[in-house]
Amino acid sequence: MKIATASDHAGYELKKGITAYLSEKGIKYEDFGCGPDEKVDYVDYAEKAAERVSSGEYDRAILVCGTGLGMAIVANKHKGIRATSCLDDYTAEMSRKHNDSNCLTLGARIVPLDEGLNIVRIWLETEFEGERHQKRIDKIFDIEARNFKSGREE
Ligand code: RB5
Repeated sequence: MKIATASDHAGYELKKGITAYLSEKGIKYEDFGCGPDEKVDYVDYAEKAAERVSSGEYDRAILVCGTGLGMAIVANKHKGIRATSCLDDYTAEMSRKHNDSNCLTLGARIVPLDEGLNIVRIWLETEFEGERHQKRIDKIFDIEARNFKSGREE
C-alpha cells in the first residue's frame, strides 16, 4: 500500500508523528508537504495528496489540519475519494468497514498524538465489509458520474 500524506501548518507536528509511525511499520508513503515553519492554506496540500489517490498513483491519503474538516472538504472534491474525518477508534473502524474510506483526515487540535496513531493503525488494519455497503459505495460512484466533469472548467 502506498500512502500520500499532507498537512497544513496546524497539522504539521501530528503528521510528523504519523510519518514516523509509517516508517517504523515499513509502510510506504510520500509526503506532499507542508514543511516545518511554513504557514500555508490547507486547500493546496489536500489537493496535492488527494489528486494522487484520485489518479490511482497512491492507494490512500492521510491528511492533517487543525480540525481535519478543511482537508476532508477538499479531498472529497476529487473523483474516487472517500475522505472521512475520524475522531476516535469507532469512527476509524466504521469509516473502513462501511464507507471504504481511502482518505483519513485528522484534526491535530483535537486529537493528541497517541490517539492519532491509534486511529491511523485501526484505519490501516480494518477491511471494508463489502456486501450491502458496496451497493452504497456504487451509488456514490453514480453521483460522481452525474456531477463530476473530467476537466476543470474556468
Ligand atoms: C488553520 O488555522 C485551520 O483553519 C486549518 O488547519 C483547518 O482546521 C481547516 O479546516
